[in-house]
This record gives sequence, C-alpha cells and structure tokens, in this order.
Amino acid sequence: LKFVCVSNDNIDEHMIWLIGLKNIFARQLPNMPKEYIVRLVMDRGHKSVMVIRRNTVVGGITYRPYVSQKFGEIAFCAITSDEQVKGYGTRLMNHLKQHARDMDGLTHFLTYADNNAVGYFNKQGFTKDIFLEKERWHGYIKDYDGGILMECKIDPKLPYTD
Ligand code: ACO
Repeated sequence: LKFVCVSNDNIDEHMIWLIGLKNIFARQLPNMPKEYIVRLVMDRGHKSVMVIRRNTVVGGITYRPYVSQKFGEIAFCAITSDEQVKGYGTRLMNHLKQHARDMDGLTHFLTYADNNAVGYFNKQGFTKDIFLEKERWHGYIKDYDGGILMECKIDPKLPYTD
C-alpha cells in the first residue's frame, strides 16, 4: 500500500493512476458531470493524493493549492465502494495534510462537502464555521450550490503520517 501525490505530468504510470482515480470519482460522485471531473483531475493546477494498492488506485483526493493564499481547495474525494469504511479515507486525508503543509506551504483546506460526506469531513477536523479571513479565499473559490463550505486548519507541527 502506498500514498502518492501526482499531477498531469505525462509520466505514463501517473496518467494511468489519474484515469483510475477519475473513474472512481465518476462512480462515487454521480451528481458531478463527468467532463468536469476529467477537466479538474487532468488540470495541471490540480494535484491528486492517491491510495495505491497492487498498482491499482483505491481512492484519492484532488485539490487545487493556492500557494500565495496558503490554502487548498479540495475538489473531489472518494474511495472505491468495496474499500470504504476501512480507514483509507482517514489515512488519505492525513497524507494530504502532510503533503500540502510540507510541499505546498498551505495552512488550511476548504471544500464544498456533499451533505452525506459532512460526517466524514467532521471526523477529519473540518468545521462548517469558516475562520479563514474572507480576503484570503474570496474570489479564489467559486460558490457552489450542491454542498456545504467546510474548513480545516492544518496543524503546523503535527506528524500526520508515520
Ligand atoms: N458520513 C459519516 N461518517 C462517515 C462517512 C459518511 N459518509 N464516511 C465515513 N465516515 C466515518 C467512518 O465511520 C469513520 O468513523 P470512525 O473513525 O469513527 O470509525 C470515519 O468517517 C473515517 O472512515 P474511513 O473508513 O476512513 O472513510 P472511507 O475510507 O470510507 O472514506 C469517503 C470516506 C471518502 C467519504 C468514502 O466513504 C466515499 O468515497 N464516499 C462516497 C463519495 C463521497 O461522498 N465523497 C465525498 C464527497 S464531497 C467532496 O468530494 C468534496
């Protein structure tokens, strides 16, 4: 089992993983238009942290780092259906936090959570209260009807992974 962070860089193995992740998102997020998923997963400004087992993608999180604003926007998050509630979603989020802090210099995450995923994001330290100053994110992320804006502060020191 491994956790990787990749973006669209034309490396064959990375492209195969990104296509696998795109397929998981398309299945697990049926309300999202497939073209929109493909566009963001393949966008060079987005990164994807993925769980890989036996060279197959089990799930992942696609996010856009706004490095100047020091926050990231989580666009999509999913684990393939037969591997849910086994702890992968939690480990994935911890790897994301570690990577975003140490590699991108981010301090916060924002996401529009689906109603049914609010419980999961709560357990990962996300709140519906937004503490981040509006000037830091307003105009960067666009309003979206289908979800609830949630925020998570990344601890500056905590080791999130072992
Ligand atoms: N509602 C409430 N609690 C949840 C949910 C949920 N939908 N999903 C998981 N949990 C809880 C688990 O019970 C567990 O609690 P515990 O630590 O007390 O045991 C904890 O959250 C973490 O569970 P994991 O096993 O780590 O989570 P999992 O691997 O199943 O991944 C995920 C969670 C990503 C939400 C997965 O269930 C999934 O892919 N769901 C379908 C797609 C989805 O809804 N994605 C989020 C949409 S919003 C967005 O993408 C921005």
